[in-house]
Amino acid sequence: MSGTVIKPLRLAVLASGRGSNLQALIDASESGRMDGKVALLLTDNPNAYAIERAKKHDIPFRIIERKDFASRQAFDSAFADAVEESGVDIVALAGFMRIISPSFLSRFPGKVINVHPSLLPAFPGLDAQKQAFEYGVKITGCTVHFVDEGVDTGPIIIQSAVPVLPEDTVELLSARILEQEHIIYPKAVTMIARGEALPPEKFLARMNGLVS
Ligand code: GAR
Repeated sequence: MSGTVIKPLRLAVLASGRGSNLQALIDASESGRMDGKVALLLTDNPNAYAIERAKKHDIPFRIIERKDFASRQAFDSAFADAVEESGVDIVALAGFMRIISPSFLSRFPGKVINVHPSLLPAFPGLDAQKQAFEYGVKITGCTVHFVDEGVDTGPIIIQSAVPVLPEDTVELLSARILEQEHIIYPKAVTMIARGEALPPEKFLARMNGLVS
């Protein structure tokens, strides 16, 4: 017998809202298109539709709200503790609308990934699709990347380009970008599982040294 055995990755997904990328990861896992499985949903928003999606697929979820913690640091630690307890291999941000702190990253160096609706490094931050549309670019898209301490920065794993069409609106463009996000996010997980996407050494060293 030959060939490498691929170990499916266990993922914790962090989402704050509708959770369509969470759904894409669940669907890709259930249909065998992704070498990974969603083992946990963590959210900061008790009203996130992502919770309904997790329930429907019997995925454990935890709600950790900022208001229940005296400091930002204690809140971040609660998230990191929940991730650690679950023993997952990868933390996948999917519309998680909070900045990940250096102390969180230092506990999971090179293991946190994010999907963003632009061709990074162009248009980081909020409303990336609108930023691209208003700038007047002819091509935009989406990116999955390893997360560092910046906003939508860090080594790129995979991107998909989406043309801006003459008759586009921000809504139409966003919908076509989202379709691509749902394709590349599971692909990125599979690439990591197969050793085809590795966090660069220098990046890992930096993440390891963020805080102790
Ligand atoms: C997605 O478009 C994702 O790329 C974006 O939030 C949306 C979440 O949708 N994330 C960012 O802008 C991160 N900077 P979803 O809840 O349906 O997955």
